[in-house]
Amino acid sequence: MCGIVGYVGENSASPILIDGLKKLEYRGYDSAGIAVSENGKTDVVKTKGRIKNLEEKLEEVGGLSGTVGIGHTRWATHGAPTDVNAHPHKGGNGRITLVHNGIIENYIELKTMLQKGGYVFVSETDTEVLAHLFDYYYKGDLLDAMVNVMKTVRGSYAVAILADDKPGTIIAARKDSPLIVGLGDGENFLASDIPAVLKYTRDCYLLEDNQIAVLTKDNVTLYDTDKNVVKKDVYHVTWDVEAAEKCGYEHFMQKEIAEQPKAIHDTLSPRIKDGRVSIPELTLTDEEIKNIGKIHIVACGSAWHVGMTAKYIFEDMARIPCETDLASEFRYRDPIIKKGDICIVISQSGETADTLAALREAKSKGAKVISIVNVVASTIARESDDVIYTMAGPEIAVATTKAFSAQLAVVYLLALRFSKAVGLLPEEREKELTKELMCLPSQIEDLLNLTDELKTLAHKYVGSDDVFFIGRGLDYAISLEGSLKLKEISYIHSEAYAAGELKHGTISLIEEGTPVFAVATQDKLFEKTLGNIKEVKARGASVIALVTDKHASVSEFADEVIRVPVTDGNFLPSLNVIPLQIFAYYMAVLRGCDVDKPRNLAKSVTVE
Ligand code: G6P
Repeated sequence: MCGIVGYVGENSASPILIDGLKKLEYRGYDSAGIAVSENGKTDVVKTKGRIKNLEEKLEEVGGLSGTVGIGHTRWATHGAPTDVNAHPHKGGNGRITLVHNGIIENYIELKTMLQKGGYVFVSETDTEVLAHLFDYYYKGDLLDAMVNVMKTVRGSYAVAILADDKPGTIIAARKDSPLIVGLGDGENFLASDIPAVLKYTRDCYLLEDNQIAVLTKDNVTLYDTDKNVVKKDVYHVTWDVEAAEKCGYEHFMQKEIAEQPKAIHDTLSPRIKDGRVSIPELTLTDEEIKNIGKIHIVACGSAWHVGMTAKYIFEDMARIPCETDLASEFRYRDPIIKKGDICIVISQSGETADTLAALREAKSKGAKVISIVNVVASTIARESDDVIYTMAGPEIAVATTKAFSAQLAVVYLLALRFSKAVGLLPEEREKELTKELMCLPSQIEDLLNLTDELKTLAHKYVGSDDVFFIGRGLDYAISLEGSLKLKEISYIHSEAYAAGELKHGTISLIEEGTPVFAVATQDKLFEKTLGNIKEVKARGASVIALVTDKHASVSEFADEVIRVPVTDGNFLPSLNVIPLQIFAYYMAVLRGCDVDKPRNLAKSVTVE
């Protein structure tokens, strides 16, 4: 979703802004622009399309000189992705220049008010309202104007603003949309996310909601909306630039698929000691766990698939009722939350607007909130009662892989912890299961060797218009993820069905040669899914069966067989997802798709 960068220092701003925007490309965008100030004048260059289009346009106009600037990648919400709607936007007679992430909910009433006051709008965006509104309030004091704007608008925003009569200063603020300040020496930076500034500094302020930052080259001051100076700890980034670079891989997704053994190992190992699970971040006592009436899990996208998986596992291992909701549904359905219920929130970015709203809904109804988050100090992490971090490192490809796997690892840890607390996990069994868990990274290493086989499979099916995924129980949950991976990056229509539900509709879509991925790894459900495999086979489907080494007999009924090693049934999702990710990856590559930045999608969805 939209990305913001800003620079104030002694170097030429333009290349630093472009470089920063490139580091934020993963967030997903459809237009880009920068504004650079020099001698009390701010010039804007912006265009629809990719950053390379912006670079071409900059070259055409002979570049922008100046040492202060702001930049933006836009993911269209209000108004199509056009040059005019791209940011930065001008306010007033042009003296204000602004970039914005988020949505201004009361923009129509504000626009009407400003139009009556003589302001002329050129774009269809809600953002232009902010630029004019800032101008309306600006009487020479940037902080005053910002506070007034923040008190007037409703919605979510991260904004960065330049005023022509305040050369060398950027003012920025956030509410419900991420923003960080990078602290340099004689230069300071602004960005939606850390990778954009990491080349220049490891020291940052992670702005919180309703905080304002005023940046000059030698100083950064933070304020609240009462104009009090806010003191904040400097956050020192410990991970390396390489973690956010491709390091020789063709795509981030390919690199991140390969990083899964490490992500799982790093997530599990600090929380397993001598064969016993210990999650120090989880403050729930055994007594509280025993008294949980229901676990409410909320998430979006792939994180919701982890939640679907978690439901089966928690109920199986701890016998605690569990409900998994799409965050966008949960927040508006007035969920019933009773005393003792807990809410588990799953999010890679920790910024997903619907997930955050669902968290707030659960909290307001008295549930204790435990989050599983990848991005340290993100809003969801900060607002949760307990946060268990996934140790996946920065994930850049829009389609999640390693964060998904690390989330599953946390689910297993929680399931063991809950199971132990309710008295269903004898010590010996805990030792066996933690041992199995610690084998997952090497089993995944082995699965990564299936690349050639899966590439061949992708060649065979690359021309398909539809691909179906079927499975039961945990295999159904992972089918959902396999199907999403395929459609989001290759644009091939795909659906996942609970295998038992197939004959209630979907089976009518099966034709001669339709590829059907049948995930049949759960022992107790194998025979049942085999029945469904036979049903689709009888109707002409081309069946690709994903089974464990135990169930090799499926080859009689399937056109292709992919085998994963044996582990405890509840941990199989971690192995099953790997071939599905690799298959989706090669399907997308063979179709010439932009694997890391699929069309219309965003990595961090900060609007509802
Ligand atoms: C976007 C991403 C998905 C992700 C979902 C939830 O749609 O493309 O990969 O699963 O958001 O994001 P979160 O950061 O909350 O896990």
